[in-house]
Amino acid sequence: MSDSKRKILVTSALPYANGSIHLGHMLEHIQTDIWARFQKLRGHECYYICADDAHGTPIMLKAQQMGVTPEQMIAQVSEEHQADFAGFNIGYDNYHSTHSPENHEIATAIYLKLRENGFIKQRTISQLYDPEKQMFLPDRFVKGTCPKCKAEDQYGDNCDSCGATYSPTELINPRSAVSGATPVLKESEHFFFDLPAFEQMLKTWTRSGSLQTEIANKLNEWFEQGLQQWDISRDAPYFGFEIPDAPGKYFYVWLDAPIGYMGSFKNLCAKRPELDFNEFWDKDSTAEVYHFIGKDIVYFHSLFWPAMLYGSGHRQPNSVFTHGYVTVNGAKMSKSKGTFIKARTYLEHLDPEYLRYYYAAKLSNGIDDLDLNLEDFISRVNSDLVGKLVNLASRTAGFITKRFDGKLAKVEDTRLTDGFVAKAEQIAALFENREYSKAIREIMAMADSANAYVADAAPWQLVKNEATLAQAHEACSNAINMFRILVTYLKPVLPRLAQDVEAFLGLTLTWNDLALDMAGRSINPFKPMMQRVELDKVNAMVEASKENLQAAAKAPSALDDDPISPEITFDDFAKVDLRIALIKHAELVPEANKLLKLQLDIGGETRQVFAGIKSAYNPEDLIGKHTVMVANLAPRKMRFGMSEGMVLAAGPGGKDLWILEPHTGAQPGMRVK
Ligand code: 2FM
Ligand code: ZN
Repeated sequence: MSDSKRKILVTSALPYANGSIHLGHMLEHIQTDIWARFQKLRGHECYYICADDAHGTPIMLKAQQMGVTPEQMIAQVSEEHQADFAGFNIGYDNYHSTHSPENHEIATAIYLKLRENGFIKQRTISQLYDPEKQMFLPDRFVKGTCPKCKAEDQYGDNCDSCGATYSPTELINPRSAVSGATPVLKESEHFFFDLPAFEQMLKTWTRSGSLQTEIANKLNEWFEQGLQQWDISRDAPYFGFEIPDAPGKYFYVWLDAPIGYMGSFKNLCAKRPELDFNEFWDKDSTAEVYHFIGKDIVYFHSLFWPAMLYGSGHRQPNSVFTHGYVTVNGAKMSKSKGTFIKARTYLEHLDPEYLRYYYAAKLSNGIDDLDLNLEDFISRVNSDLVGKLVNLASRTAGFITKRFDGKLAKVEDTRLTDGFVAKAEQIAALFENREYSKAIREIMAMADSANAYVADAAPWQLVKNEATLAQAHEACSNAINMFRILVTYLKPVLPRLAQDVEAFLGLTLTWNDLALDMAGRSINPFKPMMQRVELDKVNAMVEASKENLQAAAKAPSALDDDPISPEITFDDFAKVDLRIALIKHAELVPEANKLLKLQLDIGGETRQVFAGIKSAYNPEDLIGKHTVMVANLAPRKMRFGMSEGMVLAAGPGGKDLWILEPHTGAQPGMRVK
């Protein structure tokens, strides 16, 4: 260990308590876990904590829909989350919940301190309110027609069709996604955190060099746009902590979520009396605090959070480490393609160490997205872990056990292993800087030299001749020692393999012992440590992820709740003019996620229609088909052109979406009754 013992607190973002852990979450938790394990391996005092993020409207509504209390639901989800993370060997020192007494106490104390210091403001605002459900509606729970492009069924904060952002009050024909009722504007008093008061402090913090360049640049943009006061209160009914001296008002989930890092650590302190909470969080703390997060939550962690800490007399994080998103096979994870893979589904098919390795082999300290290419995943794991790493032991250990009584020989020529050990500081610096892919490259280059050494020594030949037996013994012993050094370097990435290797070698792998002389030590018989990844299993995982979707489509969910619209009369319905249309032409709209552009012949007239069926149909397969369209829908101007009607399609969405295909006798323009 080159630097003195550090005290480090590390966190991953707290997953919401209403959804399953998927391979996107796993990137962050694996990245953090590798870093925390690395710090521990180097002999530092490091604590890795996490928790479920348990508050907020979506969680409250989902519990209601499931017919359970929020407490029951979050307890169940917490168990599932913890089992999933344990399945991937994520070694938290503590996993807690934001709905905990510790978090309540700290959130209240921080709020009161902020209030005492003058950083809490109050004012009355108007918001959309669901008169039926008697609750204020978060933006995502209001739906309606986009005020810019007039696309229907858009969320209250932005339009999926044209990308516009707006306030929910600007939506045309707004309706509550909870009850279907038309929301009304209602006033209510809210509490605000005075973020602009922290501008100077935040600028200094941002420019102190501890943030990634891309993130510091983003913050500068936000400074230029001007910081705004932050609404930290929500009205009842709400699942969260009630605000002191304000009955019926609750802390907004994002207020007590990051405080959950402290809450979880406090809970750990109660279990480990040697730990002192204040030593980590006091203003003058010399301990180090790092948050690993995804790029979608930078604002909360690099503006609100440091300001809240500062304003309430606490220390600020040393740094916030941001990573990119996971794509699978080059595209956003997709439920219909089976690439939206839940942690549990992965674990039912594949070894967690494969994913830990693959992510590590591709992770840098930047914010670029990471592509999990399933073919590359298979070949990389098979060639590196099975072909290069474990093979080193599997091709040499048998000789030690069978021919040399399980004992390792003295190795005279230590040039190669000396070279491996000499890499320690370089590799440590790469892990420290979260340049995991570079560390893996270095380690695998050593594995290549080690394998070349074994191939060259060819102990399987040497053992055949009494005269070269000692050489065989030395070569195999040397290979086992190289294996030990490489697995020590990889211990943060592959904790389960490291454990197996420790049992095989009868020792604990530590960074300080990299240069250990293994001569005369006994090893245990070698047992297979890692299987090759099989294509069948990867395919089965993708298939099972598609099945998950079908199951999910049947299960009720508060989030995709889509209530039946208000009743219409028969006369209303009769106004809809449905016509047979011949699809003369169909093409992709490259800028739109869901749309195809169709030219429809309705008998002497051609209409251009944009249809949201891209996920289900290739344009070339549609050309020449007959379908049914609404011919008297008022034309709508979309970002890509006019849409002059609507094609009828039904299904749960994604790949499972079908247009109507009338029988062959249908003629363009025929009225459908
Ligand atoms: O974005 C999310 O998934 C949040 N639940 C992360 C919270 S991190 C912290 F602030 F609690
Ligand atoms: Zn729009």
